[in-house]
Amino acid sequence: MESILNNLNNFLSDLNVFYRKLQNYHWNIKGKDFFVVHPKLEEYYTEVNTQIDEIAEHILALCGQPLGTLKDYLNITKITEAENKKVDSTLVYNELIKDYSTLLEDVKNIKNVADKEGEHKTSAMMDDIIDDYSLKIWMLKQSLE
Ligand SMILES: [Fe+2]
Repeated sequence: MESILNNLNNFLSDLNVFYRKLQNYHWNIKGKDFFVVHPKLEEYYTEVNTQIDEIAEHILALCGQPLGTLKDYLNITKITEAENKKVDSTLVYNELIKDYSTLLEDVKNIKNVADKEGEHKTSAMMDDIIDDYSLKIWMLKQSLE
């Protein structure tokens, strides 16, 4: 169980830093496709915010302690923060493909560990997230074609 909880907290840390990055891009996106990308980023960070709460409360349901400080998240995360500057959609799409791939690895890893330990609820929770991230990565790649 310790390994599942650690992996869930790693995922929680990545999600929290990713949330901040998505909103930073939402604020700083510029270019002709602003009216498409600006609301899409809001849709993404709103979903991530819901996942943050679900993962933290799932950790609690497993009698673990969810990490709740920015210091913890920044120490642990594999997501690179955005800078405080204007960005265009090509940069954003490339970064999001990379970050959703990182998150997808997190989630697949959690599922593997959960399956080994017979933690069915955790394993099942990861299925929807794997589908969601896989679809997003495909769509983001299509946007760059
Ligand atoms: Fe906004």
